[in-house]
Amino acid sequence: MCGIIGYVGSRPALPILIEGLRRLEYRGYDSAGVALIDHGQLKVTKSAGRLSVLEQMLDFEADPTTGIGHTRWATHGAPTDVNAHPQQDASGNIAVIHNGIIENDRALRTYLERQGVVFRSETDTEVLAQLIGRFYEGNLEQAVRQALHDVSGAYAIAVVCSQEPNVIVAARKGSPLLIGIGKGENLLASDAAAILAHTTQVVYLGDGEMAHITPQHVRMTTLDAIPVTKNVEEIEWSLSEIELAGYEHFMLKEIHEQPASLETCLRGRIDLREGAVHLGGLRDCTRELTRAKRIILTACGTAWHAALVGKYMFEELIRTPTETEYASEFRYRNPVIDDGTLVIAVSQSGETADTLAALAEAKQRGALTLGVVNVVGSSIARETDAGVYLHVGPEIGVASTKAFTGQVAVLALMACYLGRRKHLSPAACTQFLTALNQIPDQIRQILQHEEEARAVAERYCEKENWLYLGRGYNYPVALEGALKLKEISYIHAEGLPAAEMKHGPIALINEGMPVVVVATAGTQYEKIISNIQQVKARGGSVIAVATEGDREIKRLAEHVLYVPDTLEPLQPLLAVIPLQLIAYHAAVLRGCNVDKPRNLAKSVTVE
Ligand code: G6P
Repeated sequence: MCGIIGYVGSRPALPILIEGLRRLEYRGYDSAGVALIDHGQLKVTKSAGRLSVLEQMLDFEADPTTGIGHTRWATHGAPTDVNAHPQQDASGNIAVIHNGIIENDRALRTYLERQGVVFRSETDTEVLAQLIGRFYEGNLEQAVRQALHDVSGAYAIAVVCSQEPNVIVAARKGSPLLIGIGKGENLLASDAAAILAHTTQVVYLGDGEMAHITPQHVRMTTLDAIPVTKNVEEIEWSLSEIELAGYEHFMLKEIHEQPASLETCLRGRIDLREGAVHLGGLRDCTRELTRAKRIILTACGTAWHAALVGKYMFEELIRTPTETEYASEFRYRNPVIDDGTLVIAVSQSGETADTLAALAEAKQRGALTLGVVNVVGSSIARETDAGVYLHVGPEIGVASTKAFTGQVAVLALMACYLGRRKHLSPAACTQFLTALNQIPDQIRQILQHEEEARAVAERYCEKENWLYLGRGYNYPVALEGALKLKEISYIHAEGLPAAEMKHGPIALINEGMPVVVVATAGTQYEKIISNIQQVKARGGSVIAVATEGDREIKRLAEHVLYVPDTLEPLQPLLAVIPLQLIAYHAAVLRGCNVDKPRNLAKSVTVE
């Protein structure tokens, strides 16, 4: 979603801002802009479109050492030059960049217009800039504080003023913001990737907190001016992890990273001898967790698909009733929750607005909350009672891949961790964990057959309608395969539990329609074979994902993509890999922008 970067120090700010914005590009944006303080003058440059358009308008010879930069994803007002951030106040001395939504902007706009303010843009951010301008009497921090008292909604903001050339004032409520601590310089960003080239020392701004940032100092307070002391934390990610490293796209790099990312995710957590799982993040609440009478997994998008795999695993291994619910539905539907309910938020970014709101709802109703999150220090990680990190490294590609397998792996560990404390024997746990430990190597084997997935993509990438079918543990895989394809190649694809096909979607099948069937060996194998026959009888072209050694399926399906054998609950970790590769290659073959698909953002921090 929107990206924020800020710099105060002694080096020229502009190249640092542009590099930071480039690193934020993956979040999705439609316009970009910067504000620099140049010899006491505020200079704002902004433009709709790609960052390269903005770059052409900038003077890289200039040497201002204070500045803020923004990539915008339009919410209030179309993606035009005027609506791009930074937004300024009437005097032109104050510039604001903002991520989030000011909910009372209509009322504030009317109030300011009555006072004679003439607005240039349609944005809620300009309302904030104008408000700060009205309050400004020589102290930017004070003016921002006063303005924020009149504002409701969600925001992460950075503000500069030409009269205070070495200062950035920042504040957050509901949108992420962190401060990078340097030597004689400090940075500000909505995402660690933007500042990683300069420092790994960060301070996370909390909700309802403000920061006054100069080259030498960072002073943090609450919105009511009460001083706040924060620990400086170290970002674990390295610069090489957020670079392409020779791959053409981040998505492809991240697909290929999965063996290594899962090894990191599992490292130190599995004890095969004892049949035990070590999850440090759950240690303090294990007793409450085992007492839970009901579990709700809540998430959005790909994380929801991982959560659905989690539901099947939890019910099988823990035997506690488990539901998976879209966070956007959960938050508004008056759910029944009590102190026997455990709510687990699953999220790569830890910042998805709907998931955060679902969590707040669950907490308010007395549930114990856990986070299954990738980004360390993210909002969901901080607002849950406990949790488990994925540790799969930064995911930059908008289409989630390694986070999905990381989420499924962590949910598998949790299922075993809690199952073991209920009725699972050490031997059953050892068997499950042994299989889980083999998954990274098995993914390595699948990746060696990338060409076969590419050939399928090549053969069918002109087809505009695809179906994905799966049963049991492979049903969420079918959903995820279809989501991957539509996200990046803009092909219409539908994922279904295979048996539901006969209740309507079968009417869609015609000659040559690609139907991907996830048909790995397991309890429902015979059933899925009969689904394949139904598809074939109507002329559909079956692309099967099957277990190595399955000869029968070769006779039925047009194409077979083999995956190694594993336990049924773990099959999603393998079966999803060929589907990620098909989606990737189909998108490339169709000339789509894989890492920046149209209309999508990596992290949806507004509703
Ligand atoms: C967006 C992304 C998806 C992602 C979803 C949830 O829609 O485009 O790839 O699955 O958000 O994101 P989260 O960070 O909460 O996992």
